[in-house]
Amino acid sequence: MKKFTNVADIGDINKALAEAAEIKRNRFAYTGLGRNKTLMMIFFNSSLRTRLSTQKAAMNLGMNVIVLDVNQGAWKLETERGVIMDGDKAEHLLEAIPVMGCYCDMIGVRSFAGLKDKAEDYEDRVIEQFIRYSGRPVFSMEAATRHPLQSFADLITIEEFKTKPRPKVVMTWAPHPRALPQAVPNSFAEWMNATDYDFVITHPEGYELDPKFVGNARVEYDQRKAFEGADFIYAKNWSAYTDPNYGKVLSTDRGWTVDAEKMALTDNAFFMHCLPVRRNMIVTDDVIESDRSIVIPEAANREISAQVVIKRLLESL
Ligand code: CP
Repeated sequence: MKKFTNVADIGDINKALAEAAEIKRNRFAYTGLGRNKTLMMIFFNSSLRTRLSTQKAAMNLGMNVIVLDVNQGAWKLETERGVIMDGDKAEHLLEAIPVMGCYCDMIGVRSFAGLKDKAEDYEDRVIEQFIRYSGRPVFSMEAATRHPLQSFADLITIEEFKTKPRPKVVMTWAPHPRALPQAVPNSFAEWMNATDYDFVITHPEGYELDPKFVGNARVEYDQRKAFEGADFIYAKNWSAYTDPNYGKVLSTDRGWTVDAEKMALTDNAFFMHCLPVRRNMIVTDDVIESDRSIVIPEAANREISAQVVIKRLLESL
């Protein structure tokens, strides 16, 4: 594997899940693989889980890790070509990227969608430039359109908790006060569509995702109907994708908050969320604190998904 930005890069899903299970049984089995190798993690946006789990995964493989928060202590970076750089941005990404590549063997990048220009966001311009100009294997720690390390961890978690071969998995939009990218729901949908699960997406009208990611999922606008018989409820907020409302918050209707009454419609479903989560906007306290909430094991699996990906990239060096 030379890069990891989407589900196609992981290849055979069952093989990847088997590798994840093997790593989880003994996460220190490959400590020699990363010896004298350096991972550079570059953050254009904040993080708790991705930062910690990815660094831990690299350390499990014996790697050295450098973390750069671009907006704290580095030169402000220009990302557009052709710009006259007479403003506050001192360095262009097109020099910064190959320079960063000089100091490491592999690069992880987090760069969210700006939510102003759909075409620019959906080109995933920043991570694509890293792939093109760094000379190193690159993996996504959440890019503009996808969050594949999260989705892989979500899939590992569903496989661990499912009690039937073909569970019903429902991804539900839920309210949030700020405009969030579509990366997590896009990516979750992409990974669920790569499985044989019964996958349903529910959201208010106006929150339709890019059809490329929705794929063969069933879309149900009635949240309660969608919840009926579900085995997993995956809650997430996202801003509007469709024009002319791209990147906008169209609703903060708390009628869409996941609560105990809606969870009672399910087949005793597990509750999932990628975190961080806004309590009593996305989900009520009692649901996230219930014994059917698996948000912590889900977050713990971020270390495992990252370790599979970094291991495969090390093997390709
Ligand atoms: N789920 C996730 O990616 O968490 P962070 O934004 O804290 O890394």
